[in-house]
Amino acid sequence: MTAALMDGKLFAAKIRTKVADQVGQLKQDHGLTPGLAVVLVGEDPASQVYVRSKGKQTVEVGMASFEHKLSADTSEADLLSLIAKLNADPEIHGILVQLPLPSHLNSDLVINSIDPAKDVDGFHISNVGLLGTGQKAMVPCTPLGCLMMLRDHHGSLSGLEAVVVGRSNIVGKPMAQLLLGESCTVTIAHSRTRDLAEVCRRADILVAAVGRAEMIPGDWVKPGATVIDVGINRIAAGEKTRLVGDVHFESAAAVAGAITPVPGGVGPMTIACLLANTLTACCRAHGLPEPEGLTV
Ligand code: GUN
Repeated sequence: MTAALMDGKLFAAKIRTKVADQVGQLKQDHGLTPGLAVVLVGEDPASQVYVRSKGKQTVEVGMASFEHKLSADTSEADLLSLIAKLNADPEIHGILVQLPLPSHLNSDLVINSIDPAKDVDGFHISNVGLLGTGQKAMVPCTPLGCLMMLRDHHGSLSGLEAVVVGRSNIVGKPMAQLLLGESCTVTIAHSRTRDLAEVCRRADILVAAVGRAEMIPGDWVKPGATVIDVGINRIAAGEKTRLVGDVHFESAAAVAGAITPVPGGVGPMTIACLLANTLTACCRAHGLPEPEGLTV
């Protein structure tokens, strides 16, 4: 391996410390405690794990955590009524509705019913529009985490060739907008892209967010490139399973300049950025200066 390892676990711990310090300051100076409400509908096991982890980390940085667990057959009207209550509650600065929702619920409608100022996921159509037009927005957590790691590693990203593989609303599209905001030349590639290998080989910054285990091999990576692997895929490994990214780590690490591992790369950054967004939302709600180094 020749690539430098980009340690997301360590970086996320530093962000949590920064958030905790500033939460302490907010309490001391203004008597304010940022509050995050997480709504989980149904019993999807992976979602339950995420929600538990979010609640635990929220409390650890000194914020208030409000969990709402609703049954899988919750009606749209009941869910919208809960969100309306959370929107109106001054103790709640951030609202997150865990996705995916059960299929009888319209995710777009539900997400767009959240007050955009409390939309710490950055999924509301207003925040999508603000980000796309270079205005102050709530930025989706995973792409925000990727950008923080890239800025930390590179300093300026201006003029670099960036290729984002994956076009989801949660990662691929907002990631591309953020990189464009950093003056990168941005390509969004996906499963239908012709000669994907050749497109990837152009990238100084290669972001893989397709959700297919080890799909990108080392010979698709430009020597010296920075590789950000957003994938978290569980594959069989003998009797057990193990987590791998969308990039084939060993072969890519032999040619890249820097690479995020899976696990321990982008993954831990997502919740750290959710906490950062909740702090930012609280500061904005009270007309206070925004936390430094935690927003774009
Ligand atoms: N499900 C998987 N990732 C996410 C995320 O970042 N936010 C929400 N709300 N749900 C998710």
